[in-house]
Amino acid sequence: MSSSAAESGSTGSDFVVVANRLPVDLEKLPDGGTRWKRSPGGLVTALEPILRGNKGAWIGWPGVPDLEVDAIVEDGLELHPVPLSSREVAEYYEGFSNATLWPLYHDVIVKPVYDRDWWTTYVEVNRRFAEVTAKVAADGATVWIQDYQLQLVPKMLRMLRPDLTIGFFLHIPFPPVELFMQLPWRTEIVEGLLGADLIGFHLPGGAQNFLYLARRLAGQPTSRGAVGVRSKLGVVQVGFRTVRVGAFPISIDSGHLDEMASSRAVRDRAREIRKELGEPKRIMLGVDRLDYTKGIDVRLNALLELLEEGRVDPHDTMMVQLATPSRERVDSYVQMRSSIERQVGRINGEYGRVGRPVVHYFHRPVPRDELIAFFVAADVMLVTPLRDGMNLVAKEYVACHHDLSGALVLSEFTGAAAELRQAYLCNPHDLDSVKDAMVKALTQDEESGRRHMRALRRQVLSHDVDRWAKSFLDALTRGGVAGSALVGVGEPIASDADA
Ligand code: ADP
Ligand code: F6P
Repeated sequence: MSSSAAESGSTGSDFVVVANRLPVDLEKLPDGGTRWKRSPGGLVTALEPILRGNKGAWIGWPGVPDLEVDAIVEDGLELHPVPLSSREVAEYYEGFSNATLWPLYHDVIVKPVYDRDWWTTYVEVNRRFAEVTAKVAADGATVWIQDYQLQLVPKMLRMLRPDLTIGFFLHIPFPPVELFMQLPWRTEIVEGLLGADLIGFHLPGGAQNFLYLARRLAGQPTSRGAVGVRSKLGVVQVGFRTVRVGAFPISIDSGHLDEMASSRAVRDRAREIRKELGEPKRIMLGVDRLDYTKGIDVRLNALLELLEEGRVDPHDTMMVQLATPSRERVDSYVQMRSSIERQVGRINGEYGRVGRPVVHYFHRPVPRDELIAFFVAADVMLVTPLRDGMNLVAKEYVACHHDLSGALVLSEFTGAAAELRQAYLCNPHDLDSVKDAMVKALTQDEESGRRHMRALRRQVLSHDVDRWAKSFLDALTRGGVAGSALVGVGEPIASDADA
């Protein structure tokens, strides 16, 4: 069965992005009205500028349950909302996506929950996304499906619309085989992804994990007979179809950020922030969704020990933590929030003074201009995830330091660490390593700091989000052939020597 845009009477879009969320969330106001606001997270940060430039369509959930919203056109971008009921939000989004897949794909930092009803709802919701996409895409269109919430859509969509060119990109790590094999529905997920023509990961390691699993799990004899699956050199052969697999490290709109951060208004606001904070000698900054993968607890523990040991002076150093509320009804997020807030309270209780807390903690999203001013104002950026697919915040900080000031403390367990080798790298599982990196960053001499920042900026400014999207879409639409490396398509990861 197939249902094309033409059959449904619409001309359809030639370029369609499919993601769990629209780039804007509908917010319910106290007076019963609604308004659109920017959605949280790195996926929107990365894709929004590309889609606005391409006049395509974006299919996604509007962020509020039990609400039917009509398609809208904003700045030439068509937004097609996919409605979700409260039960679906609980089972597909909070449940299977964020209490099963999210922890499983992030090194099992918390224990994944395997629930059969959640799986059934994940399948149903993925099917709905595939059906809406089949209606919106023009004949022969290019469709780019995003992230772990929609891993079954490539295969479902291919069955509905064999004429489409389908790409899939995973924005989070793809786990090692030993962990992935826990998943009761592991074969269905791998086969779902293999519906795409090109599957992209941030790092070669994720692509290699997938290639191994495709060989091991897909194409096993089934009730419908076996489909031959072979994988090698970045290519999986599924019957007569060729699926390419590659590493495409995502990035940010670095040029735009660089420009904004250099503007008079932002620089003035950055100075004002320092003044409002009492002109400390050193400001350290954390900017994250409030997520247990981000290691906010790690940096707070490191700070506490440094204060206890007298290696950081609470009279001249302070930390600002901006934490966007995230997945607030998922148990592990509720627990993590209270434990982080207890840590902040303890540090301020022991080391703060009247009008001078050591940690300033804000549990709310910050408007973009204000966020950039914080990046500019900060002497040291703390990015300490236990595991992160990429981490755009690290790149944003670097893009905002045109004057070569600042220092980046960066966890080795982020995708960004593969490119940003000149950061103060640390192992978030080893508190001494985090503490040492923080002290080095706080005490770096000006000249070596400038050298590090120059190298970091070279990487971030030359590898922006446009380059990322182009390299993925070129490989997808031109069907680039895998090169000699195991995952041959996509961008090479910078080596130490490049930095
Ligand atoms: P993730 O996709 O897991 O949330 P990333 O670091 O890749 O993590 O992307 C997060 C994006 O959200 C960045 O663009 C960052 O600037 C933005 N962001 C994070 N925290 C805040 C905050 N408190 N206020 C505003 N924006 C934020
Ligand atoms: O990057 C991972 C991711 O889950 C994205 O898919 C999403 O845009 C972002 O984090 C924010 O998560 P959520 O949509 O669950 O608020």
